Amino acid sequence: MSSERPIGVFDSGVGGLSVLRAIRAQMPHEAVIYFADQGHVPYGPRPLEEVRVFAEAITRFLLDQGAKLIVVACNTASAAALHHLRQTFPEVPFVGMEPAVKPAAETTHTGVVGVLATPATFQGALYASVVERFAHGVRLLPHTCPGLVGQIERGELDSPQTRAILEDALLPMLAQGIDTIVLGCTHYPFVIPLIEQIAGPSVRVIDPAPAVARRTGYLLETSGKRAAGAGGGSLRFYTSGETAALARLLPPLLGETGEVRQVRWTAEGRLELVEP
Ligand code: DGL
Repeated sequence: MSSERPIGVFDSGVGGLSVLRAIRAQMPHEAVIYFADQGHVPYGPRPLEEVRVFAEAITRFLLDQGAKLIVVACNTASAAALHHLRQTFPEVPFVGMEPAVKPAAETTHTGVVGVLATPATFQGALYASVVERFAHGVRLLPHTCPGLVGQIERGELDSPQTRAILEDALLPMLAQGIDTIVLGCTHYPFVIPLIEQIAGPSVRVIDPAPAVARRTGYLLETSGKRAAGAGGGSLRFYTSGETAALARLLPPLLGETGEVRQVRWTAEGRLELVEP
């Protein structure tokens, strides 16, 4: 069995493009539709209940567009809604994000690990469960990097302000002996070069995107939903923010581009396509 329907991927904004990049590298023949909720970004400071409502409506929208599997390419939305989504849509395969504390705990030599994620992710039960299961004997230093998601949404991957935010997070961690940094927000892989400049070569930075893409491929395979076609899978983007702003960031962040369509939140909390 196979399916030519698209994979649905969503995030509060451009962060999920770090996951999409890995999906494209591993499965270039799969069609993908990507939703950026840029009308609501950032999710990180919002209550988990509010993000859960957004995530459910976005999932409905992506399913209406024909998605065969949903990748919640956002740690915050995964923390807020993954469990709820699996219960609400039991027939749909979901792939979510959780901070990569397990591989960090397995490989750290100093036993001190920095974790960068949003406030909502740190508050969620998913993070507490990951810590309880995998962080034995390891000291985790969490930091929320206030303002960093906004900088990345503006395409400021290397500006003095972006550097200042990262230095605020990382310099105290480095002073406490971290040798590993977990990126628990899908926006953050876009500033890995800057993180590596600040942290130096002896610190390992863990980007979970390749593992999430492998999990996506595995679920497609085992559910008989892989695309059969050998050609390049199509890409389509939707945003609840400004189409031009998303289109401008696709080449630098994703390395490719595609049609970007406008979607609007209705007063009832549903998503509808805006006809061009
Ligand atoms: N990219 C997101 C995450 O992985 C959300 C960041 C935000 O909107 O605050 O958590």
